[in-house]
Amino acid sequence: MKITYYGHSCFAVQCGTFNLLFDPFISPNPKAKDIDITSIKADYILLSHAHGDHIADAVTLAHQNNATLIAAYEITEYFSKKGVTKYHPMNTGAYVAYPFGKLRTVVAQHSSTFPDGTPGGNPMGFVIEAEKTFYYAGDTALTIDMELIARKHQVDFALLPIGNNFTMDYIDACDAADMVKTNQVVGMHFDTFPYIEINHREAETYFAKRNKTLKLPAIGESFDIYP
Ligand code: NI
Ligand code: MN
Repeated sequence: MKITYYGHSCFAVQCGTFNLLFDPFISPNPKAKDIDITSIKADYILLSHAHGDHIADAVTLAHQNNATLIAAYEITEYFSKKGVTKYHPMNTGAYVAYPFGKLRTVVAQHSSTFPDGTPGGNPMGFVIEAEKTFYYAGDTALTIDMELIARKHQVDFALLPIGNNFTMDYIDACDAADMVKTNQVVGMHFDTFPYIEINHREAETYFAKRNKTLKLPAIGESFDIYP
């Protein structure tokens, strides 16, 4: 399962023949200035919530790829008014079959308002069952709801926010990995802004002490997760 990191919380994950793109925030991110947006392929664009640092390039990339937007109802409504024609509205608690696999929408303990003040509905995380099963947490605090994920799924790896201040920090992310019962974590939502800068060595060492792997991808890096 090939994964490409585009900075902040934006990843492309290849599920069979389908490219899933999560939370595109590339053109406003100075750290991702070397990413050529026109080269990004996406069949589906999944948005965890409506904050600007998760949706900035959603319309551009949806048009460029004729991609289907998957997000909270309030978010797909908002983007349908901005000209996006292919979308699938959801809310938390769902478990839906898509061509790329099954998708569960889970609770994220966060907020969700568009930059212009429009309410974005519930923030959410995603659990995707394809060749591998993975949890994309979006922006969230550590929450006991995460234990429910392990009751329903065998999670192979998790993409978790680790930057602190707006989300959980890497210590809580390690607890989150315990709750969803995975040892393979990919960090996101770190270093983009001064508020969320982290010490990579400390974070990686902390995970290693708890017998877990924390992958901190470089922007533009493609990698695979091996069990
Ligand atoms: Ni947010
Ligand atoms: Mn955010």
